[in-house]
Amino acid sequence: MPSTPPPTTPTVRDLYDAMSYGPAPEGDAPIREWIARHHGRFGHYINGAWVTGSAQVAVLEPATGKPLAAMAQGTAAEVDAAVAAARAALPAWQALDDHARARWLYAIARGVQKHARAFSVLETLDNGKPIRETRDIDIPLVARHFYHHAGWAQLLGSEFSGYHAYGVVGQVIPWNFPLLMLAWKVAPALAAGNTVVLKPAEYTPLTAIRFAELLHDIGFPKGVFNLVTGDGSTGAALVHHEDVDKIAFTGSTEVGRAIRVATAGSGKGLSLELGGKSPFIVFEDADLDSVVEGVVDAIWFNQGQVCCAGSRLLVQEGVADALYAKLRARMERLRVGAPLDKAVDMGAIVAPVQLDRIRALCQQGIDEGATCWQPTWAQPKDGWFHPPTLFTNVAPSATIAQVEIFGPVLVSMTFRTPEESVALANNTPFGLAASVWSENINLALDIAPKVRCGVVWINSTNLFDAAVGFGGYRESGFGREGGREGMWEYLKPARAHEAAPLPVIAPPPPVACEARADADMPAIDRTAKMFIGGKQARPDSGYTTTVRALDGRVVGEVAEGSRKDIRNAVEAAHAANGWARTSGHQRAQMLYYLAENLSARADEFAARIVSMTGDHREAGHAEVAATISRLFTYAAWADKHDGAVHDVPLRGVTLALHEPIGVVGVACPDPYPLLGLVSLMAPLIATGNRVVAVPSVRFPLSGTDLCSVLETSDLPDGVVNIVTGPRESLVTTLAEHDDVDAVWYFGTQAGAGVVEAESAANLKRTWTEWTGREWLDPRVGEGREFLRKAVQVKNIWIPYGE
Ligand code: NAI
Repeated sequence: MPSTPPPTTPTVRDLYDAMSYGPAPEGDAPIREWIARHHGRFGHYINGAWVTGSAQVAVLEPATGKPLAAMAQGTAAEVDAAVAAARAALPAWQALDDHARARWLYAIARGVQKHARAFSVLETLDNGKPIRETRDIDIPLVARHFYHHAGWAQLLGSEFSGYHAYGVVGQVIPWNFPLLMLAWKVAPALAAGNTVVLKPAEYTPLTAIRFAELLHDIGFPKGVFNLVTGDGSTGAALVHHEDVDKIAFTGSTEVGRAIRVATAGSGKGLSLELGGKSPFIVFEDADLDSVVEGVVDAIWFNQGQVCCAGSRLLVQEGVADALYAKLRARMERLRVGAPLDKAVDMGAIVAPVQLDRIRALCQQGIDEGATCWQPTWAQPKDGWFHPPTLFTNVAPSATIAQVEIFGPVLVSMTFRTPEESVALANNTPFGLAASVWSENINLALDIAPKVRCGVVWINSTNLFDAAVGFGGYRESGFGREGGREGMWEYLKPARAHEAAPLPVIAPPPPVACEARADADMPAIDRTAKMFIGGKQARPDSGYTTTVRALDGRVVGEVAEGSRKDIRNAVEAAHAANGWARTSGHQRAQMLYYLAENLSARADEFAARIVSMTGDHREAGHAEVAATISRLFTYAAWADKHDGAVHDVPLRGVTLALHEPIGVVGVACPDPYPLLGLVSLMAPLIATGNRVVAVPSVRFPLSGTDLCSVLETSDLPDGVVNIVTGPRESLVTTLAEHDDVDAVWYFGTQAGAGVVEAESAANLKRTWTEWTGREWLDPRVGEGREFLRKAVQVKNIWIPYGE
């Protein structure tokens, strides 16, 4: 018989050339035992107790497609019980002193740290993401958020004096970072003194359940944190619940819009963190090897199921081919597989529906003519996996360049000049994040403010920290999570708890005009005009309205503005976008000059107020004096409403810039016709916004008089526009307008509901109020509350060092 050759021992050289990975699985036995101990069935956590729930739904394991456990499908009655528990727990939670709440948050942080590995493994099983990510990113950040917010709880009274918690907060979170999103929502809510009802995503409820168990084990006060599991219908029951004071949501833009409409006019606070299509901009002087690793983290982190994923690669033409070659080589070496394997780069997609959606969008990309490239290796057949994918030759208008794919799919386009890169970057309705790569820091820092989004990473990507606010511009939602910025989302001014509804000033019955001395001649027309694009403008409708004093006397005529006038005003406001780039000093000068011109005509303005409102002469003078002072206040603030430099755990800094929102529609209250208008207009223009204002409907003549002051000031044309007429229909046009970025509405509750519902189309920011304010009182009529609403925070991460 021929003898078999002896096995050859591989040489070091053989091993080096092969460099193959052996399996390195993280053990999951303790977690599977934990699931088994619960017989694989989990209920809700309400008022400190486990509630079985009426129906159970399977929770599947993405890496295998097999059932992992079952969760309760929350009903409206169960949501109701959770909200009632949160309401009942509120007084005692708020009665604790700041230090006691800080101790509870600290205890949660310690608990998460102590059970970090269990949370990591459970998250990986439930979501399909690699253990490398849950262990090194998700769970450490969860602990970090609770530590950071233990700090805010401790400092609540000193740093947020004059503010109150909302009360009962409903929170709905997605499946891509299940426990991290819980932490981003629950930590600030509790630190601010709210109680919580949380609904996790239906695909990934298990770490939230384990979290509730942790709270139970540390003896956390009953009812302060409640958990109701279930699908979108459970979320909708929470959103619609009448006894919830604020909703915080992270998820798809589509559901975010529905929530905006559902909460419109209810007085509920709302913060939305929605989708994105974030640009990853590579200039030709960038370090391409670093860029490749950046791309891996931008789009293949968490299988691309990241709201701020750098999913649009914009490359300067000269280096595009070189970068694509390097990327393909890197993709060829990425490892997709069992997520518990510590050497795996990409795990499984969360659910079959999500996988189908990714595949369908890829097919659409191919059908629309883009070039699709995927690595040559085969991926696991069991479970829901998708290979890393690169699309080139993509038209900016292609579906895959516009729609959030939420999968490991990178879509690339090229540009020639920095201006073109910014135009391409902003060619999306979203505005969550951007990544800018260049060895020229001047260029990178020039681009960062020009991209319309809430976070910019310079030569880096997907960096997060509890001290830095995270959140979007435009259709990526509003509100911030993290840092001081995020705390404001869970607080409101103490006065808002007591304020009475704004009085409605009804139109008086008409009275006959007094006979004039020159009655034999027709009067010279004094119809007050509107102010659009720096010029006095007649209404497009050709109609005017009679303005009557409270006692019914005719005091003048105003133009009846229409949709067309609003559209013209918005266009003029857009054309004035250079205002956003003026310095604080320049804006202050304009505001001082306005105050100076108003002061020169103080008697006339006071007389006008008195003629309309019937107030005493002194009241008219007091209002004008307060208006001049208000202009001084915002002139003072124009160069002082600074951003911040956040202390982040990396070698670098994060600059929190206060950027203007853009074009803001303003509907003014009736009382204090001059002061009310200026109190809303001045903080907006001081911070670089442009304004389309609808002045008091009952007493519009102070607004139209102001036009002549604006006309003689040096304010650039279009920065302030004033359109008189029926407030509710004019402001509805503003709320519907896709080129208006925010609406401030001070009127009725019904009107606020319309503004909020109509604003859902482009998810513009709204500030609505239907309670009266004592505008003469600077403590409530001016200051930081207004300035905060007038800006959005952009955080720019700048790592440094060689
Ligand atoms: P989704 O927005 O439907 O789900 C997010 C959360 O909202 C879940 O807890 C869900 O149960 C809940 N929900 C659904 N409908 C609701 C309603 N009417 N009222 C209240 N809560 C409701 O997201 P889905 O369907 O899981 O994913 C669809 C797409 O959304 C993804 O392909 C992705 O493009 C995007 N998405 C974006 C996320 C982000 O972080 N920006 C997170 C998750 C999804």
